Amino acid sequence: MGSNKMGWWVTVAVVYSLCALLAMCAGFPAGGRGNGAALQPSFYEATCPPAEMVVRQEVIRALHSDIGFAAGLVRMHFYDCFGCDASILLESTLDNTAERDSPVNNPSLRGFEVVDSAMARLEDACPGVVSCADILAFAARDSVALSGGPRYDVPGGRRDGTVSMASEVPDNIPAPTFNLDQLTRSFAAKGLTQEDMVTLSGAHTIGRAHCTAFSDRLYNFSATGAADPALDPPFLAQLQHACPASGVDPGLVVPMEPRTPYALDTLYYWGVLRNRGLFASDQALLASAPTAAQVRQSAYGS
Ligand code: HEM
Ligand SMILES: *[C@@H]1O[C@H](CO)[C@@H](O)[C@H](O)[C@H]1NC(C)=O
Repeated sequence: MGSNKMGWWVTVAVVYSLCALLAMCAGFPAGGRGNGAALQPSFYEATCPPAEMVVRQEVIRALHSDIGFAAGLVRMHFYDCFGCDASILLESTLDNTAERDSPVNNPSLRGFEVVDSAMARLEDACPGVVSCADILAFAARDSVALSGGPRYDVPGGRRDGTVSMASEVPDNIPAPTFNLDQLTRSFAAKGLTQEDMVTLSGAHTIGRAHCTAFSDRLYNFSATGAADPALDPPFLAQLQHACPASGVDPGLVVPMEPRTPYALDTLYYWGVLRNRGLFASDQALLASAPTAAQVRQSAYGS
């Protein structure tokens, strides 16, 4: 038992460097950020037929060991896809701190080992063919479906980047403290509309958040000496109980949506409507008439 577990971790460590290495030299054009490649459905049909099936198997296997990987993979895909080049998977080196080690991402991102185990199998089956960025996109799609969410096709053809800088993360990833204008600008910079933003925020119906991500709302919001007045009082009391004021433990987490934390349903929107969104950025979706209307419609269905 013990040695098996050990073996697993050794494998993971080796595969991490494999994924990082492949991004450098698997024949993907070297270079820049972003991803201009044209994406195609069934991209690997001829070159690596088992690609999507292998990813799905690895996701299922991971969810059996920890269902939280579903949320981790969805979040990781979103964060990576302010680029979609798998640069989130690259490791820090002596002279560069990579994205994954930005304080925004470390230690809260999870799911690296799932991508890596799929990559290891695909490197056996069809060496140098499947990109890490596509694996991550497929894995997020499968996580959504396996959590009871919508099914959608994911075209392939993303190319892995070689540049990953922690210093770029704060400018590219929206913060939980953002207001509606800041959020809208952040999504617009990636070609996403406000409507896309409200839809995608629905992912906050699964997974967890560290107390440190929202504790600014609980005790001394904007240096007022009180909690964020927008928060529903009973919900605030629950959060204060889960995240005590005295030196918030960086390891403490709460579910993003406490009633069905593992189901990709519409209860997130119900929560936001009742001022139970965990982050200021969730609450912010009520700040304009059109976004609030979309939240309401998403909560009640149509
Ligand atoms: C609207 C702007 C967004 C902000 C400010 C934001 C911020 C955050 C933060 C701070 C966390 C908590 C991480 C932790 O403490 O462990 C989180 C978790 C999460 N986010 Fe977002 N996010 C946003 C949009 C999105 C989008 C568009 C998606 C995917 C479509 C997404 C998916 C997730 C998921 C699934 C989790 C749970 C992760 C886990 O359980 O490991 N988020 N987000
Ligand atoms: C709230 O934060 C402000 C600014 O950091 C600080 O001056 C003030 O003492 C804090 N109030 C409480 C009640 O902790």
